[in-house]
Amino acid sequence: MITLTTIADVRASCDAARAAGGRVGFVPTMGFFHEGHRSLMRAARAADDFVVVSLFVNPTQFGPNEDLGAYPRDPDGDRAVTEAEGIDVLFTPAVDEMYPAGARTTVHVDGLTERLCGASRPGHFDGVTTIVAKLFSIVGPSRAYFGRKDAQQLAVIRRMATDLDLPVDVVGCPLVREVDGLALSSRNVYLDADARQAATILSGALYTASEAVVRGQRDAAAIRQLVVDTIGHAPQVRVDYVEVVDAATLEPIEQITSDTLVALAAFVGKARLIDNVTITFAAGDPTPDLGVLTASSGMQEADH
Ligand SMILES: Nc1ncnc2c1ncn2[C@@H]1O[C@H](COP(=O)(O)OP(=O)(O)OP(=O)(O)O)[C@@H](O)[C@H]1O
Ligand SMILES: [Mg+2]
Repeated sequence: MITLTTIADVRASCDAARAAGGRVGFVPTMGFFHEGHRSLMRAARAADDFVVVSLFVNPTQFGPNEDLGAYPRDPDGDRAVTEAEGIDVLFTPAVDEMYPAGARTTVHVDGLTERLCGASRPGHFDGVTTIVAKLFSIVGPSRAYFGRKDAQQLAVIRRMATDLDLPVDVVGCPLVREVDGLALSSRNVYLDADARQAATILSGALYTASEAVVRGQRDAAAIRQLVVDTIGHAPQVRVDYVEVVDAATLEPIEQITSDTLVALAAFVGKARLIDNVTITFAAGDPTPDLGVLTASSGMQEADH
């Protein structure tokens, strides 16, 4: 594995891989790797000839009062993880490599970015789409891998790739959870022991809601309320939003009769956490996809 810090060097190495007939896979991240990140790296390693992981704590996707300065970092540990996963290139650019003075261009995806996390994090998705578009342009991947923990981000990136005719297959990968259900997140490091315990209510509430849909509840408002009530007054937990939306468009729905995303964000102790379940109707009956547990054997297939 090589670690590169300049756009020119990454372009040159990806050009060389393509010239040798290889397909490039790409995993964009903000580092402080956990099993969620590793699952994306493994999906890429299994499918692609040449795998690039970027590690960039992107300042433009943090709000002015958010945790950019405190964001957890472990460059040596992260390098060891990418080595162990057999990654070809780890791209760790400095902020001024990605945002040189004079830059005036932002990529904005309309509509999908206004609800859910977009409502409480104005500008966040513009930061995400702008950096991901730049990274796609630098790496030129055939496939790029994103986790379904960030379901809205995945929907927004898919929309961007379609709308801009980007020649990349955006691959959604299973949400990876701790054995007690908590979605893995670099920000879980902000949780003290009590908050860590309290955080399990988030996935628990989504599980309860999924069960209700499987048993026949189709009313979106009732499912939303069930999630809110299940979280209730759990200590240290304050709900930011709970929404029941169309899985592709993220538009609010009234009845749960086609692919649906139940998504939430909550402040738990010092962390703002997100979680979700997608309920699909491919086989006629509702099938909740809550992801996979880190301790479970074997990962589900990534979908396209
Ligand atoms: N638990 C998870 N399961 C699957 N994919 C994940 C998980 N957590 C993060 N990812 C994916 O890893 C990629 C990089 O995300 P990122 O580096 O922001 O990690 P993160 O854990 O989401 O950190 P934070 O919660 O602080 O934003 C994204 O595509 C994200 O969806
Ligand atoms: Mg994240």
